[in-house]
Amino acid sequence: MLAVSCGGLPTNGWRRPSRRAVHVVAVVGLGTVIALAVGTGSAEIGRVAAAPGSSSRVAAVYLRDCAVCHRADGEGIPHRGPTLLGVGAASVDFWISSGRMPLAAVGDEPTRAAPRYPRIMVQALVRYVARLAAGDAPAVPTREAIAGGSVAAGGVLFRAQCAACHAWSGDGGALLHRAAPTTHPASSTQIAEAVRTGPGAMPAFGRAALTDRQLRDVIAYTRRLASPDDRGGFDLAHLGPVAEGAIAVVIGLGVLLLAIRWIGTAR
Ligand code: HEC
Ligand code: HEC
Repeated sequence: MLAVSCGGLPTNGWRRPSRRAVHVVAVVGLGTVIALAVGTGSAEIGRVAAAPGSSSRVAAVYLRDCAVCHRADGEGIPHRGPTLLGVGAASVDFWISSGRMPLAAVGDEPTRAAPRYPRIMVQALVRYVARLAAGDAPAVPTREAIAGGSVAAGGVLFRAQCAACHAWSGDGGALLHRAAPTTHPASSTQIAEAVRTGPGAMPAFGRAALTDRQLRDVIAYTRRLASPDDRGGFDLAHLGPVAEGAIAVVIGLGVLLLAIRWIGTAR
């Protein structure tokens, strides 16, 4: 290359290289450049393939973090993890995005935690697991499917369908074997996914139980519960009407009795 660039310069004492020599040097130089490019190129391709979200990196993450319990082909392993075949994108997205998966150890209770992976890797894992087996299980809901519900209509549905387990306030409650968690940290997407797929001990609500419109209403109300405006003042830990009544009786009546006593002795 050097020879090529110098080839046209006026020379003194330095013999101008022949056309042929220039060509040879150019071809060899070009060859070297191409060889280097291919060499570093393949390393570069390797690195690109390992970027988060790319298919070979996802496969590696799945084999490292999931296959121990769900098997490399997703068929599941008895006493370790259930099959993932056909569970659908919404389920996978819910379990990974809510930090329940990957489970740290066999036999652990899956609970909400900060998600282990960045969003792009969650999405890649969702696609990867969904590809293991096709099914008609729910997909990750679209933005339109979760927005624009009516809080008032959702309140009626929530109290009828969800409050038995999650408490009227969404603070969660005790079940026979396992507590239903609070719904407050769940995003709109995760609420829709939980309702449609029924994680763990929660039943799945199909369209016959809750239409798409009703699901939007429930989402609106459940999100409102996460940041309620307690118009009555103190929330009393959202224990409900019994606690409110008890406090009214104890404090309200108590003050009244003291007042009556004070009036009685003052005379
Ligand atoms: C230590 C074992 C273990 C590991 C590791 C693990 N899981 Fe799980 N997984 C489980 C168990 C056990 C359940 C069932 C939990 C339940 O129903 O309460 C489960 C449930 C699931 C479900 C719900 C299945 C359904 O029927 O809806 C999904 C999806 C899932 N896991 C995905 C993953 C992914 C993806 C990974 C890797 C990032 C992973 N899991 C890592 C043990 C594991
Ligand atoms: C039979 C009891 C039951 C009913 C009814 C029920 N849930 Fe659940 N729900 C659960 C349990 C148990 C879990 C935890 C699942 C797990 O972690 O394995 C859960 C999880 C959730 C989550 C995920 C919370 C988190 O930590 O991310 C949301 C959101 C939720 N439920 C919303 C609802 C809504 C909305 C309804 C009504 C349409 C409803 N649930 C009805 C028992 C119930």
